[in-house]
Amino acid sequence: MVMKIEGSVALVTGANRGLGKALVSALVEAGAAKVYAAARDVRKLSADSSRVVPLALDTTKPEQIAAAVRKANDVTLLINNAGALTSYDVLTASQADLDADFRTNVHGTLAVIRAFLPVLERAAGGATIVNVLSLTSLASFPALGGYSASKAAAWSVTQALRPQLKAKHIDLLAVLPGPIDTDMVKALPMPKTSPADTAKGVLAGIGRGEEEIFPDPMAQQMGALWNKSHKEFERAFASF
Ligand SMILES: NC(=O)c1ccc[n+]([C@@H]2O[C@H](COP(=O)([O-])OP(=O)(O)OC[C@H]3O[C@@H](n4cnc5c(N)ncnc54)[C@H](OP(=O)(O)O)[C@@H]3O)[C@@H](O)[C@H]2O)c1
Repeated sequence: MVMKIEGSVALVTGANRGLGKALVSALVEAGAAKVYAAARDVRKLSADSSRVVPLALDTTKPEQIAAAVRKANDVTLLINNAGALTSYDVLTASQADLDADFRTNVHGTLAVIRAFLPVLERAAGGATIVNVLSLTSLASFPALGGYSASKAAAWSVTQALRPQLKAKHIDLLAVLPGPIDTDMVKALPMPKTSPADTAKGVLAGIGRGEEEIFPDPMAQQMGALWNKSHKEFERAFASF
């Protein structure tokens, strides 16, 4: 099934800034009937449409996830965008920083999916989940080795869930962006795509029903290399 954005009821985690904020705007523009904008601090959300509903959600807090499911019980398109970049060099990062990335990027994402399953299963005509991963899910970027490991684990979880969810009429799509011009990588000097353009690329990929969405030019280029040779892709990342 290909998810039609128009008329959908979407939920975006980490919607207060960066890519999440841009996804909310893009969804409204594309005609979503309602968009739950989920954030740890709802005061940081800017509601630019009556179709945007603020939702408190720290994806690492089970009681907040349960409350979000009760409130957003009509979701048909769940976008797991919330992400953390806390651990850099995998040789020297503290255990606490490594844990922080895994807590949000892997366990938080999985916990949100598990909790929203009953809601998504009820969706007439099927539902779609979109996990915002990273090119670093496919091979490690050594300067961000800890973060890369968490995104690779989230990719593995995505692959494990896909056939299980398919049997429940829920599609699970993976987004594998290159660098986006957000707070997350502001210290890294490299060409970046704007959050708005990346969000457009994500929605275009959802519209085409792509299981792997490479939403920006760098991701498309690297995605082509990954398809050609996983080893060359790994070497290219290692040489940055
Ligand atoms: N920027 C890049 O180059 C890049 C590239 C590839 C993939 N990505 C992925 O794209 C997604 C969005 O990243 P971004 O670039 O927009 O980063 P960002 O500007 O740092 O924003 C991260 C968002 O996630 C939220 N968040 C973090 N931990 C959370 C938690 N436990 N519960 C709920 N929300 C949480 C943040 O909320 P607070 O404001 O409360 O901290 C913020 O809204 C992430 O999954 C990231 O890994 C980013």
